Amino acid sequence: MKPINVGLLGLGTVGGGTLTVLRRNAKEITRRAGRDIVVKMAAVRDLEKARKIAGNDLEITTDAMAVVNNPDIDIVVELIGGCTLAKDLVLQAIANGKHVVTANKALLAVHGNEIFQAAQDKGVMVAFEAAVAGGIPIIKALREGLTANRIEWIAGIINGTTNFILTEMRDKGLAFDTVLAEAQRLGYAEADPTFDIEGVDAAHKLSIMAAIGFGIPMQFDKAYTEGISKLTKDDIVYAEQLGYRIKLLGIAKRTDKGIELRVHPTLIPAKRLIANVEGVMNAVLVKGDAVGATMFYGRGAGAEPTASAVVADLVDVTRMLTSDPEHRVPHLAFQPDALSDAPILPIDEVRTSYYLRLKAFDKPGVLADVTRILADLGISIDAMIQKEPSEGEEQADVILLTHETVEKFINQAIAKIEALSSISGKVTRIRLEELGSN
Ligand code: NAP
Ligand code: HSE
Repeated sequence: MKPINVGLLGLGTVGGGTLTVLRRNAKEITRRAGRDIVVKMAAVRDLEKARKIAGNDLEITTDAMAVVNNPDIDIVVELIGGCTLAKDLVLQAIANGKHVVTANKALLAVHGNEIFQAAQDKGVMVAFEAAVAGGIPIIKALREGLTANRIEWIAGIINGTTNFILTEMRDKGLAFDTVLAEAQRLGYAEADPTFDIEGVDAAHKLSIMAAIGFGIPMQFDKAYTEGISKLTKDDIVYAEQLGYRIKLLGIAKRTDKGIELRVHPTLIPAKRLIANVEGVMNAVLVKGDAVGATMFYGRGAGAEPTASAVVADLVDVTRMLTSDPEHRVPHLAFQPDALSDAPILPIDEVRTSYYLRLKAFDKPGVLADVTRILADLGISIDAMIQKEPSEGEEQADVILLTHETVEKFINQAIAKIEALSSISGKVTRIRLEELGSN
């Protein structure tokens, strides 16, 4: 049978890994796909660097559009990144009737609705397993394996760079910038690493998972995003003392009022498996009404783990080439005309528990004032510790864990606590999730 010809846009971390895996496992991949999958042409900026990666038996160009417009190419694999050129290339590939595989979560989170509509109209596939959680086949699991379920919530460590940073800082006491530089060297970080650190990359991935899990359009613009840059070592230590770990979590939850879509540092009970996911590893917990809680774990970034997902998509597309477009698995799992308009809730309406840290003068009545403010707003306290003031200091750290409440009430409480004369500075607030199986 005629081989499937692939055009590779980008030969960087993921593109290079994809070429390596396709070449190394060519026989095994052919046995699975039913025909050869061959990289016919690639596009890069730096031809000399690309030759060192790809050797001489591959046509390489600096004109990415030439790959997309080449009539011999069956599947275009977009591994350039970003939302400008990548968008033009993907839309042009679709317009040319080519199937697309991409690892570009930013592109899909921001322009996915337009891209999937164009692909639907043209009857081509857009596959994106590598866009979420690197090598973990979470898209396949959500779209196909869990298809019987009403998904209740999804919670994941879906950014390898930040998990790597948090782990290395905690275990080795390394400085933030040192660990970030290492993550960049290892090819984990985005071209703009603030996307990783400020939770934007995780929000891109979360928006994609929420769309597939709940049958809603891509709504990255409505996701609440908070990164790890304001986390302090003290909070990490206090959380440990209370039996929790802090992780950057992406959480998508279905509620009666709408859908929560949020990325933020989160306290998780240390006994949960997901709390022990370290380094560049990712994990995604999915709670379905029939199956209960399931967890998917693996490498969330890096050349070959991500290539594993890209190549899986190539095989999937190859297997489905001859199938009737009407009967393929829909891009977003649900039939395009059956998407729900459930609203995304503003962060003020989110329900969760909280860790609060405040600096209080060590004198009678201070804690009574704080607990009264919380009680008046209907917020109940789950645990509290007061630390001894440090040498030469008059104020002590007080740490409170609350039971579940609505975010707007905790915000009101924080404003009132900060106004007390016995409290100095800002109250630190970190959200807390139990992530139990019920
Ligand atoms: P990368 O290492 O920076 O590679 C980007 C590649 O695109 C390079 O080969 C670059 O060429 C090429 N390129 C950039 N602009 C180009 C242009 N105008 N014309 C032709 N080629 C161009 O990036 P990456 O880490 O592989 O990431 C690629 C995509 O995968 C991104 O969307 C990223 O978010 C996603 N992703 C990455 C990972 C990961 O672990 N790195 C994991 C999952 C998903 P030169 O080499 O010549 O500069
Ligand atoms: N920058 C991303 C991360 C790459 O660190 O998880 C994988 O999507």
